Amino acid sequence: SLKVDNVQALAKKLGSEIPVRYVRPERKEDIVAGDEEVSGESIPIIDFGKLFDSEYSDEEAAKLHWACEDWGFFQLINHGIPQDIISKFREDIEEFFNLPLEVKERFAQLPGQIEGYGQSFVQSEEQKLDWGDMLFLATLPPSFKQLRFWPTNPSSCRKSIDEYAVELKRVADGLLKIISKNLGDEFENVYEMFKGGMQSLRVNYYPPCPSPEKVLGLSPHSDAVVLTLLLQMNEMHGLQIKRNGGWLPVKASPRAFIVNIGDIIEILCNGKYKSIEHRAVVNNEKVRISVAGFHTLNIDDFVGPITEIVKGDNCFIRACHLKSMQSRSSLVNWKGRAYWIA
Ligand code: SIN
Ligand code: FE2
Repeated sequence: SLKVDNVQALAKKLGSEIPVRYVRPERKEDIVAGDEEVSGESIPIIDFGKLFDSEYSDEEAAKLHWACEDWGFFQLINHGIPQDIISKFREDIEEFFNLPLEVKERFAQLPGQIEGYGQSFVQSEEQKLDWGDMLFLATLPPSFKQLRFWPTNPSSCRKSIDEYAVELKRVADGLLKIISKNLGDEFENVYEMFKGGMQSLRVNYYPPCPSPEKVLGLSPHSDAVVLTLLLQMNEMHGLQIKRNGGWLPVKASPRAFIVNIGDIIEILCNGKYKSIEHRAVVNNEKVRISVAGFHTLNIDDFVGPITEIVKGDNCFIRACHLKSMQSRSSLVNWKGRAYWIA
């Protein structure tokens, strides 16, 4: 069976030896592109409030364009989500993960599916495993919610996830509005589609590991969506992005988001903005929790397959390669709409 261990439970009973399926030989060749403090390089900081303040909006939008083009990642500050909504969300999520395994497993993923409590997709017995558990939920539009996967313990959990999701969507929509403007006319309908699009949350739970330098919390991948807004739940860092041929550690305050351009934007803008590969490392001290908020178009806005259009002048094709999931799909941008190519 492809069922794998719960990492939180495994970490608890483990001595200093970690099971071989978690050991990544490739980490020996890691090039860490300078600790931020050493190299001085760190991801751009964008002020969300300034994007909508007429006094600063032009300047901040230009900075956002540069951040998307040169980095594909930025830190978003001053996002306007009330701190009590984030704090309550954080508390409830932490409480959920601290419950006994058999309680959490009431919300477990079904075989072969990603939604619910469990681990990353496992497709073969040989596949290396990530040092982390997750809770994956489709959150918006509300009709996409599958409540069987939504924790009922603590009792306020569903409410606090909902409130966080709605606030996060508002910020994502605001960002995409400016990003669309920055990319030009054709993108107007991308923004219109995006507004009614889907959101899902992936809570990543990385237990401490006795040999953090041998494992990965999350395998290298790019996000197959439009835009991701990542919340770091505590002061533990672990995200690294591909930059100048190496891995650059990214730090952010729990009061800010780390935002990245997803594959769909890269495709729709013909590669002007890139969807950057990233991964998560773990530590041997303390649990790290992060929440990736994925925002994408509505499934109804993708049409396909229509193989004849890939030859037209107006279109562009690029493979999305989800390295961790070992899956491949292609999208084309044809007259401003996205099409799957089977
Ligand atoms: C992600 O790529 O979904 C999250 C990486 C992280 O935990 O920082
Ligand atoms: Fe990601």
